[in-house]
Amino acid sequence: MPVIDSKPGALARSDWWRDAVIYQIYPRSFADSDGDGVGDLPGAIARLDHLRDLGVDAVWLSPFYPSPQYDAGYDVADYCAVDPLFGTLADADRLINEAHARGLRILVDLVPNHTSDEHVWFRAAIAAAEGTPERARYLFREGRGPGGDAPPNNWLSVFGGPAWTRITRPDGTPGQWYLHLFDPHQPDLDWTNPEVHEEFRRVLRFWLDRGVDGFRVDVSHGMRKAPGLPDWDASPNGLVQENAAGQRPPMWDQDEVHEIIREWHELLATYGEDRILCAEAWVAPPERLALYVRPDEMQQAFNFEYLKAPWNAAHLRSIITESSSAMAAVGAPPTWVLSNHDVVRHVSRLGLPDGVSGDGGIGVGDVQPDRELGLRRGRAATLQVLALPGVAYVYQGEEFGLPEHTELPDDVRQDPTYARSGGVERGRDGCRVPIAWEAHLPTYGFSSGGRSWLPQPTDWAPYAADAQRGVPDSTYEMYRSALALRREHALGGGTIEHLDGYTDDVVAFRNGAVTVVTTVGDTAAALPAGARVLLASGPLDGDKVPADTTVWFIS
Ligand code: NOJ
Ligand code: MG
Repeated sequence: MPVIDSKPGALARSDWWRDAVIYQIYPRSFADSDGDGVGDLPGAIARLDHLRDLGVDAVWLSPFYPSPQYDAGYDVADYCAVDPLFGTLADADRLINEAHARGLRILVDLVPNHTSDEHVWFRAAIAAAEGTPERARYLFREGRGPGGDAPPNNWLSVFGGPAWTRITRPDGTPGQWYLHLFDPHQPDLDWTNPEVHEEFRRVLRFWLDRGVDGFRVDVSHGMRKAPGLPDWDASPNGLVQENAAGQRPPMWDQDEVHEIIREWHELLATYGEDRILCAEAWVAPPERLALYVRPDEMQQAFNFEYLKAPWNAAHLRSIITESSSAMAAVGAPPTWVLSNHDVVRHVSRLGLPDGVSGDGGIGVGDVQPDRELGLRRGRAATLQVLALPGVAYVYQGEEFGLPEHTELPDDVRQDPTYARSGGVERGRDGCRVPIAWEAHLPTYGFSSGGRSWLPQPTDWAPYAADAQRGVPDSTYEMYRSALALRREHALGGGTIEHLDGYTDDVVAFRNGAVTVVTTVGDTAAALPAGARVLLASGPLDGDKVPADTTVWFIS
């Protein structure tokens, strides 16, 4: 495809997705224009200049489609419309156009593993009889045991409890069970059914025709299940891999998902080489993840192994090497992700004591992160990933060093994991709290109505955009400088060489002209004589790089 020089930024290149920085907007918590306390598309449009100034290449928006919001919009009732909570289809069109006008690409979220139970298909399925085409779009099965009273198999839902719910027939008698790997309000589709394929081709075209540049594909690794839906004893959470006997869980990472992905690749290609798919696939090892980004499949896959890694130099080095080479083997860029709407924000995660992962969320009474340590390590991790070749994802608020809300009262929690796990897991609300824009306004400028769907902490003024813009050492200015230098030195498209000569708890590599050193742990490192420092995640002590610091320099 020809390069169009007249367009700014990422819009100029069809292979923009190989080295892009992509910013995740979680619409309900980004900016609220109508004052109802929930962020919306007009709110996002009004803040697009912030993203242009930050220097990102693209934006990924979590779902804004009509939904009863049992899972914050990942329960989609209509894939080709906008929920009035977030605005109108005209607002979505305007957002796409306004982003493009600023040189920003737009990715939207595709949720193909399950629909909402309010989707017309599911309503028709429960109104129809067993064995009808309406039922065949989902995974309905007879129960086991006397009266079919036990679920069809022993699978557990990711959010806790059984992965099956029994329906009641119109005459009041108990009927079949349906599969939901997530909440009962999220019935799984049957991807062996050609009608499901056809419907999602229609959905892809609908958004591609409106000008979107691609899709982040929810639960990419779950769309196909092993025939016969055999029992499986292990927990459904975390990174999926083979067990000791060499078996993969029957609900995840089945080879047949790749047939669906190849079909979509072909469809996107008819729109041009610049339209992309990014896999949300919690699979390991990297060689298995790389299958999702073979040349005729998706363009990117989130690298959750890096996100899950402890703050340990040997560990980080090996993940960097292994994920880069697994992706290179199939010609795809690696991706680097530190935070998103499903995990504890990295500046808080990295402030937890050794051995405390924070998986499942943090709440009142739990071990609290050390905020200062977490921010120091979080900034160091950020400068490490932004210097790596490949694609970097940035989650809204991380550019201000925003911490997790770790003391949300349990009675305001909305993530279904909290209730379904019986409170064992606090859930993901702490990373979804609306972000701060203006330090001195109610809701820190998030909502024009001074309301917020989750309460914000009272000490977030220092994390507001206007408290950090133009302040030299602020996290915002660190991100902005990093993105500018990343572009100037073409780091995203570079190659790295790990450097010897540092102690074991240092990660050091060269990417083109730039050397990157991270002190992971207590030992300081020395800069070589004559090093010209471009950027550092924290203050340097003469030529010493103190603990938990990343520095970029030219030598
Ligand atoms: C992954 C999404 O990121 C998460 O928020 C959601 O709960 C599940 N998929 C189910 O759609
Ligand atoms: Mg609103």
